[in-house]
Amino acid sequence: MSQQKRRRVIAGNWKMFKNQADTRAFFSAFNPLVASVQDCDIVIAPTFTSLSAAVEAAKGTHIAISAQDVYWEKEGAFTGEISTAMLVEAGCRYTLIGHSERRQFFGETNETVFKKTKAALAAGLIPIVCIGEMLAYREAGRTENICQTQFHGSVGALTPEEFSRILIAYEPVWAIGTGRTATPEIASAVHKFVRHCAAEMFDAGHAAALRILYGGSVKPDNIQGLMAQVELDGVLVGGASLDPNSFAKIVKDWTR
Ligand code: PGA
Repeated sequence: MSQQKRRRVIAGNWKMFKNQADTRAFFSAFNPLVASVQDCDIVIAPTFTSLSAAVEAAKGTHIAISAQDVYWEKEGAFTGEISTAMLVEAGCRYTLIGHSERRQFFGETNETVFKKTKAALAAGLIPIVCIGEMLAYREAGRTENICQTQFHGSVGALTPEEFSRILIAYEPVWAIGTGRTATPEIASAVHKFVRHCAAEMFDAGHAAALRILYGGSVKPDNIQGLMAQVELDGVLVGGASLDPNSFAKIVKDWTR
């Protein structure tokens, strides 16, 4: 498959951490640390209530703000949900969709991920669609099978034009928040497989252009090994994105 140059993405997923004051404090420390970084996209995903504070604090920088989830209906009696238009109004450019914590704890399925992805694209948001296998499946040798099923079900029915606007995050569930990172070789092998699925479902050009991020216990001390893999187009960072110094170090080491 052609070695097309893909712009790198470093994304931080804050999960259910950081209120508005914490968010402002993070950005005032983080912005100067990454002010000179030009050659990658930096994305931060705060909680819904901290989105506006993040958008305000990131004004005038290259940092884009992402939601962590979204709902596919435009509006209506859907207590607790947030629409794509609400995210756009709040200043979001991206949204995570189908994070494994949502799949595990909140009943997210490939079908709902697909609906959310469609809706996000229609609103002009960039979806970061997450896939990844649980430990038992890896140990049973079913990693590719699970990733293929999630990939097909979550994004396989997009149009080629829609597909060209999404990012995929491969996050093995056993590596999230566990300190147990996939080795660069393991991550790279799955990325290659996902790209192969993309070529099968769409075509070689779309597969070569697809940006695939790795996520799962990415830290300043393992970013160098991961970045050496040409299949990795960026990272989705949880815990280490909460600290401005460690997240800036990841951004800078990757872009070096
Ligand atoms: P982690 O989380 O870096 O804390 O493992 C990654 C994620 O869940 O996106």
